[in-house]
Amino acid sequence: MKLIEYISWNDDIMIERPLAQWSGTNFVTDASWGDNGKGKIVDLMAQRADMVIRINGGPNAGHTVVNPQGEFALHLMPSGIFNPEAICVLSDTVVINPFTLTEEIKVVRQAGIEVNNKNLLISKNAHLIMPWQKRRDGLREVARGGKRIGTTGQGIGPTYSDRTERVGLRVGDLLAPEFQERFDQELVWQEKLTALMSGNNEVVHYDRDRILEELKEAREMIAPMITSVIPVIWEYHSSNKSILGEAGQGVLLDLDRGGYPYVTSSHPGIAGFNLATGIPPKEVARVIAVTKAYTTRVGEGPLPTELNNEVGEMIRSKGHERGVTTGRPRRCGWLDIPALKYGIRVGGVDSLALTKIDIFDGFPEVAICVGYEVGGKIYDTLPDANDIEFMYQAKPILKILRGWDNDTTSSRLFSDLPENARKFVKEVEEAIGRPIELVSVGPDREASIYL
Ligand code: IMP
Repeated sequence: MKLIEYISWNDDIMIERPLAQWSGTNFVTDASWGDNGKGKIVDLMAQRADMVIRINGGPNAGHTVVNPQGEFALHLMPSGIFNPEAICVLSDTVVINPFTLTEEIKVVRQAGIEVNNKNLLISKNAHLIMPWQKRRDGLREVARGGKRIGTTGQGIGPTYSDRTERVGLRVGDLLAPEFQERFDQELVWQEKLTALMSGNNEVVHYDRDRILEELKEAREMIAPMITSVIPVIWEYHSSNKSILGEAGQGVLLDLDRGGYPYVTSSHPGIAGFNLATGIPPKEVARVIAVTKAYTTRVGEGPLPTELNNEVGEMIRSKGHERGVTTGRPRRCGWLDIPALKYGIRVGGVDSLALTKIDIFDGFPEVAICVGYEVGGKIYDTLPDANDIEFMYQAKPILKILRGWDNDTTSSRLFSDLPENARKFVKEVEEAIGRPIELVSVGPDREASIYL
């Protein structure tokens, strides 16, 4: 890694402008590899939303929310469920494991929040993740050998692939009078497919009666919430109600614009928002990307700023960097500005929320990656995340900044932050060329500095 000298600084004053003041249609995403703290930001913004829509992915996502109602690890349920005035939507382009969803509904109900068709709508057009897709996910990973993707094992890829192939079961099928027939047809096909994938000529049987029984229970719980969501979304949008879109994962994991094949199977950026809602991108008032003060990634694939040393280990342990869904340790590195700039461009991002700067409290120095060196050329923006070879070759060019000793977790105003932490924020803002609207210094709603 190449080091650039300490930067000098002239103390700019930042103007306070609350992120919490918003209206129209807004979208919260992640411009890198996910896990940057969207749950907290969506929970904060959802307090003034009329509608919160989860747009992509499924139970591969893990959104941690800490609020007065408790601490929650949500996978499918939009974080807006904690606002009694808001209606949450799981859109067509989300893949839904009905058993995960019903478990989450139970957890939220235990916290005293009623979940019914007044505050949760589930698209009848969303695909269901069934046990066979999870099994296929695992079998495919084994078959990839050394080239495994490191999926979350939740059946995401196989379910989206069934969707693309125009097969599989959808949420609305649960309500169809001929559901059992459709289920049995699917089962026969999936048993053959699984047997083929297992490769040892064994006959595969899924436990038909048990799955049907569990699906019956799930259907009883969610049936009143199953509907056609697009007309409702459109009604809210056209009457200028406050709509908040919530992505899973991050733009660098986008199936088409991320680093294929080390991607997920959906679209976390503005294109995914459009597909999920039918709202044209130009009618979205603001797209906010959440990013940590450093970079993390779970699963395989290139990570140019990865720190395989004690600094990386310190970030991982202080930042509790383990996957919410899988418990896997996350790979950690310095903030990767070239990758972030690409994610911002592709994802249609207007502004950022910078989370977890408190993890750097006590670090004598911190760094940001301001460019890559590839084949003797310098790049300040990643040209194409899908060029995986480029990503593997990228040598990060680091800018080293002075760290800070003081604790930032009790800061509530920008001016409360130690001088070097303020310089860090300003440096990141200048490097990415987008305003930072919020700095988060802890998991609670209150641990937020509005800029
Ligand atoms: P899949 O989405 O389970 O198929 O996994 C594909 C890739 O996306 C793997 O590298 C996963 O670790 C990664 N991934 C999936 N969901 C998330 C997420 O919510 N946060 C971060 N990485 C994720």
